[in-house]
Amino acid sequence: MQMHDWYKKMFEGKFGEFWLKQIEGWGETSELQASFLREILEKGLTLDHCCGPGRISVLLADSMPVVGLDLSRFFLQAAKKKAKQAGRENFYLIRADMRHLPFKHGVFDNVMNLWTSFGYFSDEENRMVIREVSRVLQSGGTFVLDMFNPGWMVRNFRERDWDENGQYLTLEERSIHWKEKKLKTRWIIIDKRNGEINEITIDLKLYDLEELKELLGEEKLETVKVYGSFKKEEFNEAKSNRIIIISRKQQ
Ligand SMILES: C[S@@+](CC[C@H](N)C(=O)[O-])C[C@H]1O[C@@H](n2cnc3c(N)ncnc32)[C@H](O)[C@@H]1O
Repeated sequence: MQMHDWYKKMFEGKFGEFWLKQIEGWGETSELQASFLREILEKGLTLDHCCGPGRISVLLADSMPVVGLDLSRFFLQAAKKKAKQAGRENFYLIRADMRHLPFKHGVFDNVMNLWTSFGYFSDEENRMVIREVSRVLQSGGTFVLDMFNPGWMVRNFRERDWDENGQYLTLEERSIHWKEKKLKTRWIIIDKRNGEINEITIDLKLYDLEELKELLGEEKLETVKVYGSFKKEEFNEAKSNRIIIISRKQQ
């Protein structure tokens, strides 16, 4: 597997199991994000673009029809199970690559891409992802993009982190590659039950707010509001660790 194919490995198998365990502890955060989205989204059909294990979409599907799309078989299985346990009927899952959405033009009233599920590819392919989102949104539809804020990350940069959480010990080593504008992170995940070690290096494109707005604008997605958190705080380049952009599809 090539280094740039990390997204195929990071959310399957042992890594997928690791993420599911982490997410178990995020109940309150996920509830907060879901209530933010209930206020922001239009009534109608919503695409959870890179839905993962259905962390947010299963919550939202209590009051609106939601389609969850993801590449990870492991996460899609987990999402299916979660939806079944919650008794959701208005919830559909599909396996696809975000660069090629298997939907007709203008079928969704909303698309949401949450928790940094964007910036995984080359510049051209990242643009293709936004173009696809715009294509499947109907005019006037809403796109919510939730990314990390490089302005905050650089000011609070930590080269290394060590986190011990239940079953896992996690080591992260970060470096910024300015020429390519990428954040590279080496993850070492140790399962404390049996000492098993898994390692992966991932890279994410660093997009600041202006670059994201421009990218969206070029694909007919006009920014209408920017928040710095799911508590609806205003975005602040230095202080917000998230960039949450609400945009509308133009005619
Ligand atoms: C950081 S997780 C976020 C999951 C979810 N949005 C959430 O907030 O819990 C990123 C997700 O993107 C998915 N993904 C990665 N590459 C993908 C691709 N090429 N096409 C579709 N989904 C992809 C992963 O499988 C994973 O579920």
